[in-house]
Amino acid sequence: METKTGNIIIEKIKESKITKVDFSNLPFGKVYSDHMLVCDYKDGAWQAPRIMPYGPVSLDPSAKIFHYGQSVFEGMKAYKDAEGRAWLFRPEENQKRLNISSKRISIPELPKEIFMEGLTTLLKLEKDWIPTTPGSSLYVRPFIFASGSGLHASPADQYKFFIVCAPSGPYFAGKIKVLIEEKYSRAANGGVGYAKAGGNYAGQFYPTQLAQDKGYQQVIWTDDNTHEYIEEAGAMNIFVRINDTLMTSPVSDRILDGVTRKSVIDIAKAEGIPVEIRKIRVEELISASKNGSLKEMFGAGTAAVISPVSGFGHRESDYSLPELENSYAALLKKRITDIQYNKAEDPFGWRFQV
Ligand code: COI
Repeated sequence: METKTGNIIIEKIKESKITKVDFSNLPFGKVYSDHMLVCDYKDGAWQAPRIMPYGPVSLDPSAKIFHYGQSVFEGMKAYKDAEGRAWLFRPEENQKRLNISSKRISIPELPKEIFMEGLTTLLKLEKDWIPTTPGSSLYVRPFIFASGSGLHASPADQYKFFIVCAPSGPYFAGKIKVLIEEKYSRAANGGVGYAKAGGNYAGQFYPTQLAQDKGYQQVIWTDDNTHEYIEEAGAMNIFVRINDTLMTSPVSDRILDGVTRKSVIDIAKAEGIPVEIRKIRVEELISASKNGSLKEMFGAGTAAVISPVSGFGHRESDYSLPELENSYAALLKKRITDIQYNKAEDPFGWRFQV
């Protein structure tokens, strides 16, 4: 049976899968909730969104997503507080960035109302799927892809916007080891590095696999031109602490403007931590590691939250990071997750009740 909430037609699942899910042992992004949001773009306009049971999509084999990879996505999380209320974190930042990514690869802009109303209506319906075990949340994945067909290498005339939800545990199992990459590049000036375009991620799989074969979990990308400066880690932005100063690379054509990244910068400044947003030389990291001034490195992203790095590899050498009692990573993780899970005041106004 179909019902309508606002502008959205809802077809509910007959029987929920929720009782079959082990909420005490959730992987990241592998278990999906009962419903998904779908909205089509055709005849030059985004159509009315629908919510329907989660399930497969039927596409023409010549749909342009398969041939030219025209797709963009976002990563968000929904959190549940002790009173059972559901929260999002800065969702309008994701809404804006989705359109910034879309523009770069010629996908038509999605109206803000479709994104926000679709997101909140879906999450109200899927509220029971938001896990409450520590470190878990409902990972929310909005994405758009070219469903229009044609082998001509030009933008499609039809697109699909989806939102799917996955109750998830942590992205990384614990501290991670990273490898500074100097051969392969993730992005170039004038390219698509700043966009959350699907292909940006596919291009990282092979070099990341090579790094994993050597015992690292992630690659730290360096600039494509000189390979002298660290950029981001692909699944997250990177922060470095030298002595008491927290540093991260400036966003650019090549670096994603991460929502967690900019939140961490604001929280750190509010905590009185000296913050520098500047290019960071690989050599600087190595000499800081050798002289003991390199105190911490951590990744920051929606999926990764704040992921401390235990050590990094560069060429044939490994450098380990000290265990700190009062790490910035631990402090900043506590501050940001307390806001996200509604455990503390939100002086920045970032929390958004569903
Ligand atoms: C996220 O952090 O939500 C992302 O989209 C990164 C992805 C590689 C999991």
